[in-house]
Amino acid sequence: ADVFTYDPGFTSTASCESSITYIDGGKGELLYRGYPIDQLAEKSHFLEVCFLLLYGELPTATELTDFETRVTRHTMLHEQMTNFFRGFRRDAHPMAIVCGVVGAMSAFYHDSTDISDPWQREVATIRLIAKLPTIVAWAYKYHVGQPFVYPRNDLDYASNFLHMCFSVPAEEYNVDPILSRAMDRIFTLHADHEQNASTSTVRLAGSSGANPFACIAAGVACLWGPAHGGANEACLRMLREIGSVDRIPEFIERAHDKNDPFRLMGFGHRVYKNYDPRAKVMQETAKEVLELLGVEDNPTLQVAQELERIALSDQYFIDKKLYPNVDFYSGIILDAMGFPTSMFTPIFALARTVGWISQWKEMLEDPTQKIGRPRQLYTGAAHRDYVDVEKR
Ligand code: CMC
Repeated sequence: ADVFTYDPGFTSTASCESSITYIDGGKGELLYRGYPIDQLAEKSHFLEVCFLLLYGELPTATELTDFETRVTRHTMLHEQMTNFFRGFRRDAHPMAIVCGVVGAMSAFYHDSTDISDPWQREVATIRLIAKLPTIVAWAYKYHVGQPFVYPRNDLDYASNFLHMCFSVPAEEYNVDPILSRAMDRIFTLHADHEQNASTSTVRLAGSSGANPFACIAAGVACLWGPAHGGANEACLRMLREIGSVDRIPEFIERAHDKNDPFRLMGFGHRVYKNYDPRAKVMQETAKEVLELLGVEDNPTLQVAQELERIALSDQYFIDKKLYPNVDFYSGIILDAMGFPTSMFTPIFALARTVGWISQWKEMLEDPTQKIGRPRQLYTGAAHRDYVDVEKR
């Protein structure tokens, strides 16, 4: 019989070669195309980071302008797609809507589904990056019962997203530059993270030759789980449930208890065995945003800071090398901006789309890649003969 290596959860299997993102989990280091995440979060901005992830180098000024123009040209959705949104129940989770609408893009944009054509691959790439903010904002608008707000191409990527979420026809919404900067930073910090579950899902779906919209919809579906992108929503719910600093020890006790399925959401990571470098930037951004909004005494932030302090000096968390991850502080920022918790994971999906599509593109351009087809260790019954139903 064939002999296979058993590696549940792929903890020691490299599925591909990649030159996009580098993580040193022990050091807590994250590089996009060689550039440290904290430098990019501070000095760059999301669309420039998109260019870097997709094409491998930081753009020149002309390349950047050209890329921004190409993206803004595709921010509108086919008008008929509004009917697609309207087919959902109003109480649908926005993630369900995003998953459905992104999958449906292949039914609307036929001229960018032929993956053998590099030009069509490029158009699909630009369309996905340009339209995800519109899709996510409209999932929100539909959810809260407000009219869809069309994109504004005179605004930068993050400001336009905030505009589509928070503008209403009755009143002009002026995007605060600090909030828009914070939003942009959240996008940058989530843009890529090498072969995580949703990215591997996109690559696996793409390895069969499926069209890019179908592949990204598969990524959205995988991201939804609470062990992955759903953690930001779960984390804020947990911080609210803890409610006050004096209840923290009770929850730390629960996290220690092997018989209790409770985990401290926003803590731990498959790869980082040190502080997640994204969490550091997120913590600083959370403070900035809450200060701007005049809510520094936000009880959720207080619980988060105290919980972090206690967990970092707790023997269980030290022994298991559990540190805050990217999702620990992002929910606090998004909540302060006015987003309901159900929007946290769709926002993560919006930002990760560029990572998914960069990895998908890299896979298609790699001649060594084959259809992803893991094997198994069979543990079922040996060969046996069929028994007629009356004899069972
Ligand atoms: N709270 C309490 N105990 C934990 C936690 C936690 N958050 N995370 C891991 N552990 C324990 C776990 O019980 C296990 O203990 P033992 O060895 O005694 O069985 C040990 O630490 C190792 O955990 P694991 O589940 O085997 O590790 P993993 O690499 O499979 O899981 C993880 C990584 C992120 C799924 C996990 O740490 C977790 O569930 N964290 C909470 C959810 C979360 O915040 N996820 C967001 C990840 S970052 C954003 C993203 O990439 O999507």
